[in-house]
Amino acid sequence: MSNADVYILAIESSCDDTAAAVLKNNQVLSNVVAGQKIHEEYGGVVPELASRAHQQNIVPVIDAALKKAGIDKKELNAIAFTQGPGLMGSLLVGTSFAKSLALSLQLPLIAVNHMHAHILAHFIDEEGYEKPDFPFIALTISGGHTQIVKVKSFFEMEIIGETTDDAVGEAFDKSAKILGLPYPGGPLIDKYAKEGNPKAFPFTKPKVEGLNFSFSGLKTQIMYFVQKSVAADPDFITNNMNDICASIQHTIIEILMEKLKMAVTETGIKRISIGGGVSANSGIRATLKAAESKYGWKTYIPKFEYTTDNAAMIGIVGYHKFLEQQFNDAEVTSKARIAF
Ligand code: KG4
Ligand code: ZN
Repeated sequence: MSNADVYILAIESSCDDTAAAVLKNNQVLSNVVAGQKIHEEYGGVVPELASRAHQQNIVPVIDAALKKAGIDKKELNAIAFTQGPGLMGSLLVGTSFAKSLALSLQLPLIAVNHMHAHILAHFIDEEGYEKPDFPFIALTISGGHTQIVKVKSFFEMEIIGETTDDAVGEAFDKSAKILGLPYPGGPLIDKYAKEGNPKAFPFTKPKVEGLNFSFSGLKTQIMYFVQKSVAADPDFITNNMNDICASIQHTIIEILMEKLKMAVTETGIKRISIGGGVSANSGIRATLKAAESKYGWKTYIPKFEYTTDNAAMIGIVGYHKFLEQQFNDAEVTSKARIAF
């Protein structure tokens, strides 16, 4: 069987994480991620700085991934990389590196859609992790995206709902910024929310047609609420941090759950997966788990390291494309926006 084994080097550089992974078929041999602290002081990702940091990180990250996997470049069967969507300057670093590596090693090149990768991360072989059967509903929630996708097969997916403005990760990060928390604030809201009362400050949910989302109104509402409360009590934030965070998180979870319930009703599909950085949120994970007994859903929540941006998820798409011989030629280019 070993002759048929497929070794893929995957590269991800769509936003502010430089990542490389080596997969042997659908198993992850290494999964290396270098984050970029530089953006913290700016309160958000600065594209020019991200691109420069990718250039500095890409060689050591790929070397580390190969070394950890115990694989020599000559043993690889293909190079997979993130084509888009993402920041152009960031994507270009990974794309050009993947192209030149594939050319010099005479290997097939596989372009991967970052959003497909968040969804197909569930097909990474992990002991004790049950992969979803098709069709299933994927909720992809990250700093850049909020989508509900009907996944019919590895390569047939349909977006049935998405945000009309901010992504859910932005809703977390911008709310955190209003509270004076550093970027990215999502994990901090999660942390404080654990100690707070989710019903302390009721926020109204936006009214959006169908399965689409809107988060910009919530951010504005939180901003006015905080400004007003601080005017009355300068210590309002410090004294109520846990309750404010729990209330924000609770509102976001209710918005997501409402749309997921609608998606289940509309499609009749009760298999629900989540992916993207925000699916690391402990409140979202617990609410989804509870939906199994509450609504009879079967939920799929990937391992934490395959949830935030990583290259293993690019590698699993690469593997399935390899099996179908879906390769790209050297003319392939990065795309900041990409057709689903
Ligand atoms: O998927 P990801 O790593 O990068 C993008 O493709 O955007 O997602 C990053 C986003 C950030 O907005 C971050 O605040 C959010 O995921 N995030 C969380 C948590 N962990 C990461 N949001 C809420 N709770 C968390 N525990
Ligand atoms: Zn992502």
